[in-house]
Amino acid sequence: MKKLALGLMLLLLFTGLVAADEGGGEKEGEAELGGLAAFGVGLVFVGVAYYSLTKRGLIIEHRRGSPGIVMRPERAYITVFGPVYPMTIHHSLTVVGTLLALAHFVTCTDYSTLGGKAGLGMAIVLVLMNISGFYGRYVHVKIEMAARKKQSERLKRFAVLLRRWKLFHIALAVLFLILLGIHLAVVGD
Ligand code: HEM
Ligand code: HEM
Repeated sequence: MKKLALGLMLLLLFTGLVAADEGGGEKEGEAELGGLAAFGVGLVFVGVAYYSLTKRGLIIEHRRGSPGIVMRPERAYITVFGPVYPMTIHHSLTVVGTLLALAHFVTCTDYSTLGGKAGLGMAIVLVLMNISGFYGRYVHVKIEMAARKKQSERLKRFAVLLRRWKLFHIALAVLFLILLGIHLAVVGD
């Protein structure tokens, strides 16, 4: 029942955003659904920030349990209880955010402008990030299995692979930020 209500709320939000966006009166041939893309990019940011902060116990920590929030005046200031891991939140929000941004991307018919090129670059980076994310999760599982079975050689090999993978995943995120900066600086004109 709770899931149904949440689904309905998201659908309403989505429909509202599309309607608001279509009211914007864009000219023929230009990208639409910019508001939806902004919402999608917002979800990606929240997904990254939540994982990053909870992983380091900075400001916010995440514990498994029935949903709830506890605040206190000392570190970590906010404790969020939830039925899923922060990685699942990272994974879900970044995938949904990417889909929303891609809905805006496919409405574009001209990729020759600087904004268009940055947009095309972001679309490619987003798809690569999602693929790389799933690969990273696979490596994580392999590491956990090797640790459980006490296979130290395999563990070492996968740990090196994870370090390299993480560098790649984070480098893509930085590239995305740069392209987003260029995109927002030029499409606003
Ligand atoms: C904060 C997020 C974003 C906002 C607010 C935004 C907004 C806009 C706006 C206002 C335009 C210009 C539309 C026009 O000239 O009529 C545009 C164009 C475009 N956007 Fe975005 N966008 C965002 C993110 C993205 C992302 C993530 C992608 C790629 C996945 C993307 C791809 C494109 C493309 C390809 C164009 C066409 C360029 C052009 O018409 O010159 N945008 N965007
Ligand atoms: C637009 C999409 C994405 C962006 C911008 C993004 C960005 C990031 C960033 C910046 C980190 C480093 C966080 C930190 O250590 O502070 C990270 C970690 C990670 N991401 Fe993503 N990510 C995206 C999509 C995904 C997806 C779809 C998955 C999984 C299916 C995923 C899996 C991971 C994993 C496993 C790590 C953790 C690495 C570790 O701590 O060992 N990512 N991501």
